[in-house]
Amino acid sequence: MQPWSFLVIKNKDLLHKLSESGKKSMIPLLEPMKNTSKNASDFFVFLKTKETSLFYDAGVLVIIFGNNNAPTVDFDCAMAAQNMMLAAHSKGIGSCWIGGLLPALMDEKILKELGAPQGYKAVAPLIFGYPRGRTSIPEKKEPEVKWLK
Ligand SMILES: Cc1cc2nc3c(=O)[nH]c(=O)nc-3n(C[C@H](O)[C@H](O)[C@H](O)COP(=O)(O)O)c2cc1C
Repeated sequence: MQPWSFLVIKNKDLLHKLSESGKKSMIPLLEPMKNTSKNASDFFVFLKTKETSLFYDAGVLVIIFGNNNAPTVDFDCAMAAQNMMLAAHSKGIGSCWIGGLLPALMDEKILKELGAPQGYKAVAPLIFGYPRGRTSIPEKKEPEVKWLK
């Protein structure tokens, strides 16, 4: 069904404004769990710090919106996102899925300001940019695989 619609944002002022709205929307959601793990507490400090950007100064934000009428919309958009991230990687461009922006993208006022398509929901906000350095490769967990005879 290809139920996606892409919104590309490169304007620095708009990116800054969106990051601020995103951080503001995330704070009350994260507050109750800020002491449950190191990741949660680090992210909480990150959100509360004035200078941080949800987008890490990346040059481009692409928000993948999915058509609400498509039964497999979340999966389709997530697959599109993964394909875009792999394609970017093959060209030396880094990317990151910014789920932290989603709460702000539930706000009708923000969606209207962005000109988001009607009847679509935000599924995958992705940033793209040239990495400042290499990130360390995480330890691979052994996948659980069962072979049925
Ligand atoms: C659904 C989803 C939402 C994410 N949201 C964020 C985010 O808001 N900010 C961020 O820095 N990384 C975000 N990430 C990226 C993860 O933190 C992590 O860097 C990425 O998934 C690579 O993880 P890995 O170490 O498991 O390969 C998100 C990833 C996923 C899958």
